[in-house]
Amino acid sequence: ANKEFTGNPRRQLAKLFDVSLKLIVPDEPNVEPLIEPGKFGDYQCNNAMGLWSIIKGKGTQFKGPPAVGQALIKSLPTSEMVESCSIAGPGFVNVVLSAKWMAKSIENMLIDGIDTWAPTLSVKRAVVDFSSPNIAKEMHVGHLRSTIIGDTLARMLEYSKVEVLRRNHVGDWGTQFGMLIEFLFEKFPDTDSVTETAIGDLQMFYKKSKLKFDLDPEFKEKAQQAVVRLQGGDPVYLKAWAKICEISRNEFAKVYQRLRVELEEKGESFYNPYIANVIEELSSKGLVEESKGARVIFIEGFKAPLIVVKSDGGFNYASTDLTALWYRLNEEKAEWIIYLTDLGQQQHFHMFFKAARKAGWLPDDDKTYPRVNHVGFGLVLGDDNKRFRTRSTEVVRLVDLLDEAKDRSKAALIERGKDKEWTPEELDQTAEAVGYGALKYADLKTNRLTGYTFSFDQMLNDKGDTAVYLLYAHARICSIIRKSGKDIDELKKTGKIALDHAAERALGLHMLQFAETVEEACTTLLPNVLCKYLYYLSEEFTKFYSSCQVNGSAEETSRLLLCEATAIVMRKCFYLLGITPVYKL
Ligand code: ARG
Repeated sequence: ANKEFTGNPRRQLAKLFDVSLKLIVPDEPNVEPLIEPGKFGDYQCNNAMGLWSIIKGKGTQFKGPPAVGQALIKSLPTSEMVESCSIAGPGFVNVVLSAKWMAKSIENMLIDGIDTWAPTLSVKRAVVDFSSPNIAKEMHVGHLRSTIIGDTLARMLEYSKVEVLRRNHVGDWGTQFGMLIEFLFEKFPDTDSVTETAIGDLQMFYKKSKLKFDLDPEFKEKAQQAVVRLQGGDPVYLKAWAKICEISRNEFAKVYQRLRVELEEKGESFYNPYIANVIEELSSKGLVEESKGARVIFIEGFKAPLIVVKSDGGFNYASTDLTALWYRLNEEKAEWIIYLTDLGQQQHFHMFFKAARKAGWLPDDDKTYPRVNHVGFGLVLGDDNKRFRTRSTEVVRLVDLLDEAKDRSKAALIERGKDKEWTPEELDQTAEAVGYGALKYADLKTNRLTGYTFSFDQMLNDKGDTAVYLLYAHARICSIIRKSGKDIDELKKTGKIALDHAAERALGLHMLQFAETVEEACTTLLPNVLCKYLYYLSEEFTKFYSSCQVNGSAEETSRLLLCEATAIVMRKCFYLLGITPVYKL
């Protein structure tokens, strides 16, 4: 395909303006083009003012920012994509794209596929550390956020041609295993015979063992010895530990399967063999000090130090995370490591990132690679504005939420008579797509830094900014195409698009901003950017459809192709958000 027609106008404009910047100010090679979607034109270039402040003291020929802007326009290489440029305000360059170029770009996408629009990030390999529940404890709604946001970020990076190592950093090596193992030995002297059904609810098992640990000093003593034995590599204890992990793993897998999230488990225990060496390396660099019997790293800006070896000689969360970081950088050769947990753990991440910078593992800023980012998120709240819990003040179980989302969306479909139109399988699959999609979208659409109030009624509403509304919008487009009776795949090959009507042009422009939106969501690590894009896409489509007749009009072919292109972009958005699209609703 012709390179001129790749679907990333913002990047392409940046390239053009880069040429013109280099021409007008050859002595300022570090000035980068600043291109944004425009308020007046389709895009704007914002370099003139900043450039002026750099060059005005250096005896420049230019008389002010507008003159710099004019020069930028004059030196801009000619290109099929630019219709016209003009100066606005203090020196912004407004760019109007050529409608012909836009149409051609969309036609090409229809032929070559939307993956030709995928952005290319400069990173080759990234680790996304997400979900990461703790063994023997139930996955709860906090882990839901980590799983959903992490999966979306992984999908967006993968789409942007980054190799992503999806890592489930499960908590499988804490002191809690002492009591769990001792309790297991008491209940099941023959550990080989232990099965999932025998243990039943692992969360209850955890609670009971904790109760015993707190009440029975003899048991507590045994549990503490069990930890030492386990960490010393005693095969009997290791076997019991593996059993508990396996049962827990199978439970987690059910949730991942339902959410269609793929993850590779490399839990805390995986890094255990490397910890001592890593702490040794940090010590040899003079980072580690003795403090109150523990070995710690002091970090500027934090009162308490980061403990890397506890006073009893054991390792902790921080020692494991430092080691995992070392492993990911050196063994896995990841250039970008992204961690998803709630904001409550922010300090932990900031501290061990700083320690790694002091050790020279990472550059001093968090923009240059290798790069680490903690992607924190707020709490999920209940109606009472407190942390989301059920009436019994228990945490909410993820499986129950999934069940309810599906049941409710099924009930809504039945109310609309779909059980009479569809097969039971269709009904079930659609209920699942809509229910789980609604749950995910409600989580993803708000800025992750703020919490959100969990409400089934809101997320399953078919109006407003919800997955249900968006899935309907997509299904409606599919039905417009079906009703035309035309073979859309045939049309794609031969048909031409024209963006003559203002609403057609606006829709086309928004479609062409897909790639840059994905890129922005990746670089800012904010999936809500893509949600907003998707919502506006369906709004632009609605405006188009209410002012432009499709079927039976003189422009039918072009407009059907616009419908198809919209549906394709929507489906890619759904895919990147982990939502399964439906074709009829
Ligand atoms: N297991 C931890 C928790 O449930 C999350 C682990 C996050 N990842 C990490 N590398 N620390 O809170």
